[in-house]
Amino acid sequence: MAGRRVLVLLAHPVLERSRVNRRLLEAVRDLDAVTVHDLYEVYPTLAIDVRREQRLLVEHDVVVFQHPFYWYSMPSILKEWQDLVLEHGGASGAGGTRLCGKISFHAISTGAPASAYRRDGYNRFTVRELLVPCEQTEHLCGMRTLAPFVVHAALRLGSADELAPHQAAYRRLIEAVRDGRLDLDRAAAAANLNDELEALLAPREVA
Ligand SMILES: Cc1cc2nc3c(=O)[nH]c(=O)nc-3n(C[C@H](O)[C@H](O)[C@H](O)COP(=O)(O)O)c2cc1C
Repeated sequence: MAGRRVLVLLAHPVLERSRVNRRLLEAVRDLDAVTVHDLYEVYPTLAIDVRREQRLLVEHDVVVFQHPFYWYSMPSILKEWQDLVLEHGGASGAGGTRLCGKISFHAISTGAPASAYRRDGYNRFTVRELLVPCEQTEHLCGMRTLAPFVVHAALRLGSADELAPHQAAYRRLIEAVRDGRLDLDRAAAAANLNDELEALLAPREVA
């Protein structure tokens, strides 16, 4: 199939102090057909240009919400973005078809380790469960939401060596969804896109 255009919507309030998100971004920003849109950089006063954001959405086929996990959710600019950009009747609701058929997923870093995001862990819920309000919002907008890509224990991942496999996996994932090489049904049903990434890759499609 023809390549998809991928929009990475980044929400990190202090990217210069980031370990994980900054490096994940570095791994994909040079890719063809991938647009990186840093919301805090573009809107330092949080005054989101709704029309500009809606145009960006229309111009892309895949939306990746990349952000650190903040209070089991997202940094505030992304909530503001949701509230303003996905307005009723535009992106969602009756008559809203702008986002119909687009693919979305979250690429998240967490401070807590993977073991905390289990029923018997101290966070009690999986990351995917905690993302249900986002997933349902995207679903209501007609988007096809995949499982999240999650990098756990961000504070312990200091060195470039420790981060390299996550960078490589993220790049592989974005390339695959761009090139139509991701098994979307399985990627939607998975708990996350990391653990099973190789199994989720479909053979390269012939044009
Ligand atoms: C305001 C705030 C809230 C946070 N909430 C969570 C949380 O709910 N769960 C979690 O695992 N980590 C939480 N963290 C830790 C961040 O997710 C972690 O620092 C971040 O993912 C690291 O990514 P970075 O290296 O790109 O900054 C929180 C951090 C801050 C500053």
